[in-house]
Amino acid sequence: MPYPFLHRPRRLRMNPRIRDMVRENHVRLDDLVYPMFVTHRAGARNPIESMPGCFQLGVDQIAEECRRVQDLGIPAVILFGIPEAKDATGSQAWQEHGVIPRAVEAIKKTCPGLVVITDVCLCEYTSHGHCGLLDGERILNDETVEILVKESLAHARAGCDIVAPSDMMDGRVAAIRQGLDAAGFHYTPILAYSVKYASGYYGPFRDAAESTPAFGDRRSHQMDPPNRREALRQARLDQEAGADLLMVKPGLPYLDILRDLRECFDLPLAVYNVSGEYAMVKAAAARGWIDEKRVVMENLAAFKRAGADLILTYHALDAARWIQE
Ligand code: PBG
Ligand code: ZN
Repeated sequence: MPYPFLHRPRRLRMNPRIRDMVRENHVRLDDLVYPMFVTHRAGARNPIESMPGCFQLGVDQIAEECRRVQDLGIPAVILFGIPEAKDATGSQAWQEHGVIPRAVEAIKKTCPGLVVITDVCLCEYTSHGHCGLLDGERILNDETVEILVKESLAHARAGCDIVAPSDMMDGRVAAIRQGLDAAGFHYTPILAYSVKYASGYYGPFRDAAESTPAFGDRRSHQMDPPNRREALRQARLDQEAGADLLMVKPGLPYLDILRDLRECFDLPLAVYNVSGEYAMVKAAAARGWIDEKRVVMENLAAFKRAGADLILTYHALDAARWIQE
């Protein structure tokens, strides 16, 4: 005789159709943003060793690849530039015909419907690999912000849809907003990397973007991993400065922070599933130690459950195929 249990949660788990009906969170194509690396090297399609499946693409290759992204139903890409020349002030970052403006123009010509987000920082453009101008070994804040404004304007003039400052300098969101408005770009949104931790998970990205700092680290501007209240403070400042979307980065180790922001803010939230998180999944999957599809979709579901609206992920192409299946 079965027990007369009143509650049997398994009732709703037995039938796959019913499981679908009561599922609480969904990863949709519209949630995905695909990060891409654009290099000045014409014709390049250089595989990135620590990020299997990702490439540095020449400006002439990027539009082609974006067409594939768009055909998969992914609505947006975020671009990182690798310039021809680096110098102490990152001057290529705000050149009118720099690598990012040229890429944006090429993409807009081929895929006018694709949302193009541009990362705004100096570390890919400086010879020392730091996110700002230096005085000795110290990063200058306000002088750097001025350059970030110019960089944002160069991207906006080229036709990007959203600028995404990732530098973590104080006051940059307000300054960029002011700069964009003064130039007539009142409707170019800012996706602020508001809560960006000084993380070991950025390693593979720095290979990909050729942006490893020549000395020291990024702890003087990126956040200290154990801090939680500070994340809310930082997000509040960016909201008050006019950010249109907020980001938490990295993703998986900071799901608690994502949930905190979801509960305290009503702006759309993005999460960055960063290069190191991607590399770990790819490495384990390549050895047959995990089932890649299951783990990726489980990770993406975790972001939605924690409260993300948008997910920046190198898995976007695979995820789009799996979502469509
Ligand atoms: C540049 C920037 C970084 C990432 C995005 N923008 C690297 C860094 O801060 O060193 C990391 C993204 C990733 O790891 O996938 N400031
Ligand atoms: Zn940087």
